[in-house]
Parts: sequence; structure tokens; C-alpha cells
Amino acid sequence: METLMLKGAPVRDAVFSVLKGKVASAPRRPGLAVVLVGDDPASAVYVSHKGKGCDEVGFHHVTHCLPASTPQAQVLSLIAQLNTDPAIDGILVQLPLPKGIDQEAVLLAVDPRKDVDGFHPVNLGLLVAGKPRFVPCTPKGILRLLEHYGITTAGRTVAVVGRSVIVGRPVSLLLSLKGAMGDATVTMCHSATRNLAAVTASCDIVIAAMGVPRALGADAIGEGAVVIDVGINRIADPTRTGGQRLVGDVDEAAVRGRAGALTPVPGGIGPMTIAMLLENTWEAFARAEGVDA
Ligand code: GUN
Repeated sequence: METLMLKGAPVRDAVFSVLKGKVASAPRRPGLAVVLVGDDPASAVYVSHKGKGCDEVGFHHVTHCLPASTPQAQVLSLIAQLNTDPAIDGILVQLPLPKGIDQEAVLLAVDPRKDVDGFHPVNLGLLVAGKPRFVPCTPKGILRLLEHYGITTAGRTVAVVGRSVIVGRPVSLLLSLKGAMGDATVTMCHSATRNLAAVTASCDIVIAAMGVPRALGADAIGEGAVVIDVGINRIADPTRTGGQRLVGDVDEAAVRGRAGALTPVPGGIGPMTIAMLLENTWEAFARAEGVDA
């Protein structure tokens, strides 16, 4: 079977182009603040992509890079300052935070109206209640990508592998909500799931978001299934300059030709996450300014 590769770039470009048009007639530039604590190299790369995205659509952006040794109180005081900064509509605290900083306390400190990641308990609660305000960026990007490629979810079975607050849990909730791009029958799988491959192989759509390189092989994917690979794992590869390469949570070589559709790594979900972050920032701006979302 020919596997359709679900590339994120064309969808991201379309979202960027809509945002550029909106910024052109906005009363001021929407602003995004990114807080990066510590020196995780992968986080530094993601944060630089977010800044480039802002430049491309014409958003104001600032990145606050703090050393891993920064006391929690200083991180909280920076967030308090950003909460009241009128030039900042969206605040993103890059995760994971270094050990010694309480992630929950930091996420709780972000003004829910500026919480463009959707990780504040108020925003997560609204999502659980079926009335999302900010939908977390990667889950939103997954649904948008499926929609773009005409892949429906109503009545279909979906296995979500991984229960993180960033991806697995919110995407499971979204897919189970009533309405277009919801109405799915969702099975939430995690590290204690028995016979994982048998569970995922029985589903129409598999969303792999557990952060384990190439963990799902051909036995885990049913013939013709749609496979969304959220994993971005660096593995050693001496044939590459830098000695590393990126792989997903799905063994792409093993499932190509078996899956009906598959997101590449890199180039699948990654660009979608950034596009949805900027869209959420526009939404925060639009609510603050009383303009159309
Ligand atoms: N780390 C990995 N993905 C994300 C994300 O979507 N948002 C934040 N804040 N941190 C992340």
C-alpha cells in the first residue's frame, strides 16, 4: 500500500499566511514572550523556531533565557511582570523545567488569559468541560493536520500512546469531544498498558506521543491505519555530520507501505505546533483588543 506522507509545512504556511494578513490590519503587533530556563539543547532549538515563526508573521516576541540555577522565585517574578506587560499577549514557559523548579507552581503563575500553551489548570479544566479556551498547541496541530488532509475522526477508533499534559491527555480529550474532528472512540495507552501493539494495531488512527525512539513497529500498526508520530528523539548516527539524527516514536521504515498515512519526523507535527502557538497568540491578542479572532 502506498503510504501518504502527511507533511506539516504546507499547513503551517497556510496558517502563517492567514495570520500575516490579520496582523497587517491589527491595531498593534501581537506579542509573545518565551521563557527558557536551563540549557537543554533541544529546548533551545524549539524556542529559536518559535522566534523565527513570530518574525515571519510579524509578531513582537521576546525570549528570556535564564540559567538552570535560577531560583524559582525569580522565574515567578518574571512571569508576574509578563502578566501585566501590555505588549505581551501570550506567555510560553518552555518545558521541561530544570530539577528544583516546581513546574506546577510556574504554570499556575501564568495569567490564564495569556496561557497560549493551554497548560494552566483553568484552561485544562475548560478543555475537560468541553469548552476549550486555549487548546494546547501540539494536540490542536494534530487535529488541524488531519482536517487538512481530509482525515475524519467521527466514529473511528484512535489509540493515543502517552499520557503527558502536553500531548497525550489533551489530544485524547479533544478527540472524544462532540463535533467535527472529535466524536472518536479513544483508547488512552501508557507505560502500564498490556499488549500495547495489539491495542494500537486494532485502531484506525494511532497517535504516538510517548518519547521512546521507534517504539512502534509494523506489528503495532494495522494495514491502512493513519499514524501520527509526535516523537522527536535524537539518536546516534555516525554517518551524519554531528553524529546524530532525529527519529520519531514510530519506526518509519517498518510501517511505510503498511500505514495508509504517516507524519514524517522531522517535518510532520513539529511545524504544526509552532503554527498553532502563533494562532493561539493571535486569539489571546484578539480577546485583549476586542478584535475578531
Ligand atoms: N516542550 C515540548 N513541547 C512543548 C510545548 O508545546 N510547549 C512548551 N511550553 N514546552 C514544550
